[in-house]
Amino acid sequence: MSDKGYVLSNADEGERRRLEAIEAAYDPRTTARLSRLGVVPGARVLLLGAGGGSVARWAAEEVGADGRVVATDVDPRFLEPLADKYPQLDVVRNDAVNEELPAGPYDVAHARLLLGHLPQREQVLRKMVEGLVPGGAVLVEDFDWGSYGPALPNEAAEKAIGAVSDFLRAVGFDTAFGRRLPTLMRSIGLRDVDAEGIVLSLRGATFPLEPMYRQTFDRLLPTLIEQGHMTAGEAEALHARFDDPEHDMLTQTLMSVWGHRPSSENDH
Ligand SMILES: C[S@@+](CC[C@H](N)C(=O)[O-])C[C@H]1O[C@@H](n2cnc3c(N)ncnc32)[C@H](O)[C@@H]1O
Repeated sequence: MSDKGYVLSNADEGERRRLEAIEAAYDPRTTARLSRLGVVPGARVLLLGAGGGSVARWAAEEVGADGRVVATDVDPRFLEPLADKYPQLDVVRNDAVNEELPAGPYDVAHARLLLGHLPQREQVLRKMVEGLVPGGAVLVEDFDWGSYGPALPNEAAEKAIGAVSDFLRAVGFDTAFGRRLPTLMRSIGLRDVDAEGIVLSLRGATFPLEPMYRQTFDRLLPTLIEQGHMTAGEAEALHARFDDPEHDMLTQTLMSVWGHRPSSENDH
């Protein structure tokens, strides 16, 4: 684990399944919005931190042979097989924080569940916008933790969520990034900024709750216990909750926030 920034890794056991759960939960909303923002035949698209690759595959099919999709990840192991199948898809190993992004221009740039992790999130957003054509669109999707919690009062669950959020904030994660995004986008000069959010109600012992939440907790738990954020007994209570089909929880709100690069210098 690094000290700051993204604390999970695509090399971790079970990560592929966790990414698939994220995709199953959120792809319908993401792809519908990307279509409306210009992922159409012939478009040039940048996907940052493209993870398991379902959005990259979808975008490659949408833009077709005359378009171009550049899918980046600091660890592109799950993206690489897609590049053989789609000539219009470039897979690039790229660290969005410490490197320049692959050169554009792009009509649309997208990042989901990446910027919230990165202390340098504003700088990365600016880089995404710099690569856009005038009038091009950026779509950033990140969590806001305001909705997150058990459906019924549950002290162990609430304590665990508090512990995880304290830990993540200490490593640079912003649990309120989703709600801050519209203001941030306007402050860096984007036009026609707009947003919507989605909250899921998930049930214990089912997909996608199990891979999305249980596996994330399992990987963080040793560190959380070691650093005194939780006790081993509290961790056990948490496990019982994930395994209980009578347990319902509300997820964080995935905020989808978009805006456009001004079309000319005079577009204020
Ligand atoms: C939570 S996953 C989300 C994956 C995908 N965007 C999705 O929503 O299905 C975050 C992804 O960002 C990648 N990542 C983390 N830090 C990165 C960085 N500095 N630059 C590029 N990618 C990064 C991870 O390897 C991982 O694949």
